[in-house]
Amino acid sequence: MEGKNVLITDTILRDAHQSHAATRMRFDEMEPMLPLLDDIGYYSLEAWGGATFDSCLRFLNEDPWDRLRNLKKYLKKTPIQMLLRGQNLLGYRHYADDVVEKFIEKSIENGIGVVRLFDALNDPRNLEASVKAIKKYGKGGQCVCECAISYTTSPVHTTEYFVKLAKQFEDMGADNICIKDMANLLLPFTAYELVKELKSELRPETKVHLHTHNTTGTGDMIYLMAIQAGVDIVDCALSPLGNGTSNPATEPLIATLKGTKYDTGIEIEKLLPAVTHFNKVAARLEKDGFLNPKVRRVDINTLLYQVPGGMLSNLMNQLKQAGKEEKLTECLAEVPKVRKDSGYPPLVTPSSQIVGTQAVWNVLLGRYKTITAQFKDMILGKYGAVLGEKNPEVVKMCQKDGEKIITCRPADLIENEMQTLTQKVKEDGFYKQEEDVLSYALFPEVATNFFKWRKARDTGVDSDLSANPNKVYPV
Ligand code: CO
Repeated sequence: MEGKNVLITDTILRDAHQSHAATRMRFDEMEPMLPLLDDIGYYSLEAWGGATFDSCLRFLNEDPWDRLRNLKKYLKKTPIQMLLRGQNLLGYRHYADDVVEKFIEKSIENGIGVVRLFDALNDPRNLEASVKAIKKYGKGGQCVCECAISYTTSPVHTTEYFVKLAKQFEDMGADNICIKDMANLLLPFTAYELVKELKSELRPETKVHLHTHNTTGTGDMIYLMAIQAGVDIVDCALSPLGNGTSNPATEPLIATLKGTKYDTGIEIEKLLPAVTHFNKVAARLEKDGFLNPKVRRVDINTLLYQVPGGMLSNLMNQLKQAGKEEKLTECLAEVPKVRKDSGYPPLVTPSSQIVGTQAVWNVLLGRYKTITAQFKDMILGKYGAVLGEKNPEVVKMCQKDGEKIITCRPADLIENEMQTLTQKVKEDGFYKQEEDVLSYALFPEVATNFFKWRKARDTGVDSDLSANPNKVYPV
């Protein structure tokens, strides 16, 4: 049948378990199914980046770089896709340009074939260094540069604005444009309009890739409308960890498009062993307390409060720790207010955490009685520019010690760091590969703990343990 085949990116190895199960899927749980997944005919497999890097080091005692190399051993035909937060890389601050460049060089060298990069505030200046590095190290089509729009709704976020932003990304060098609807706020008819506009305004060779979740139950409808508007690629998660706060499930979409002019060409039957396998993995994650079956339900709160899946569970955790679980509704109502005060940043890592934590403090201690350091930095422009106007009262509170507002590209204020970081890791006796410096740059404490564990494993001698016999390591 004439028409165009819709391409699918499967997120079972990254976003699916990040959304449903605190990113706790281990490599040995992925490994048996990798040859099969490689054979399906997906556009890409999202398998690295996002929170996987942190989770590997912090909870799983896995070197994230080893994980990437091991994935690449099996995934020979299907590109491995990663998610990168522009100048934040996978951490929670802005890094110097030389760290960004080295990180991308090493990611591509170790097997990444598609880099999706975004900035929480949609400030294109925060993607400049990464795009440049992807173009440099991924030349000859070795790595696709996919710039993502962090989709959000507000009085200032219009279709016109998003199209303008996408064209700007294209001019910077993006091969693909992604609409990253992490909070599942994009409604089906708006999706149709936005995709239609993007497809008519962007170059014919630029692919439009749509990413949504099914938190509010609209995910499949969004995809169906976007497909009719000409979207090239959509993100789905295999059914064992699909739907709810995760991405729409893969198999229903394949079945829906079968025999139509949008046919994906994928045979559902081929996926069955993976479905059986990942159902067992999901059961293990649930048994170990990482997967709460609640995440699979339709939750309309996100339509009302614009809270992404991950942010909702973070809010619940913060309140649980403070013993104030009953304040959830109040916090959810405070989030849009804090967001308005800060100029309508989209809610995605790290701005979602920054706005969420400030909202929790506002509810527990009184509005802006305590201002977190990160919130202050965001208001002062250290994370980049926002589209809307900030509340002058709140800006004033953040400047009470004479702090200046930053208007340049935030990374212009950061000195190159690779040399100092390399020296530090070497002096500490942990240097085994160049990549260790990057792990340390992103998560200094967590990486150090991991290096200690790795050294103890490799040498059979635990130096910390001999100094402190009561030392307990996280497992
Ligand atoms: Co997502």
